[in-house]
Amino acid sequence: MIIANWKCNGSIEMMLSWTDDYVKECDDIHTFDTFVGVAPPSIYFETFSVEISHLNILGGVQDIDYLDGSRTGAISVDMLIDLGCDFSIIGHSERRQIFNEDNNLIRKKLKSLNEKIMTILCIGETKEENDKGITKDVLKNQLEIVNGLDLDTQFTVAYEPVWAIGSGITPKPKDINEIHKYIKDVVQSNSVNNRTPKVLYGGSVTDKNAESFFTEEFVDGALVGGASLDGSSFASIVNIFNGIDK
Ligand code: 13P
Repeated sequence: MIIANWKCNGSIEMMLSWTDDYVKECDDIHTFDTFVGVAPPSIYFETFSVEISHLNILGGVQDIDYLDGSRTGAISVDMLIDLGCDFSIIGHSERRQIFNEDNNLIRKKLKSLNEKIMTILCIGETKEENDKGITKDVLKNQLEIVNGLDLDTQFTVAYEPVWAIGSGITPKPKDINEIHKYIKDVVQSNSVNNRTPKVLYGGSVTDKNAESFFTEEFVDGALVGGASLDGSSFASIVNIFNGIDK
């Protein structure tokens, strides 16, 4: 599974050239089985959906609100279902840091999406927490979001160390693998139906380093920020993933 998170980037013009570049670079776009998704800014979701309708790409969003009604500026799950949205990212560290989102709110979002729209829950430790050697404790705390929930089959976690996002620095692939195994075990034991999720790695993934992550046993794909803004770089990452026997 390879997911693009465009964050608050892009424009109508960019979307048109993005799909052209993606198609030129991506091998055999109609036959592979990989889940490839792109989450543009919600305002562009519909236009982008039309752009990718002939491609093997699913359209998603970067966040949602958990209720509808008197909530100015919000976009609800039912509205996204109306638009044919295939997945939503929630819990991104930028939402936690810039918009002060906490586990309590993110759990409400997960509950509103569960069994309706596939969810990608982001978790990750800061540099300071990593330096202190408390990464697993931090992740365990963030994963309390799933406690006691019956998780749907497509529920996915993205491990995104905050210090790796946009920095060009990443953990070692073997360390990522160990953390992914840990995440799978925690979710499996905390969810009511003992769901073992797919776990994606995110944080400075490029077409230069992707292979080193994808060959690790418990890395089920990537959540890509900066490198996904270029259609051909993103397609290269998809090609690399498809070239590895998972
Ligand atoms: P970068 O790939 O730009 O480091 O961003 C990762 C990310 O935050 C994806 O959600």
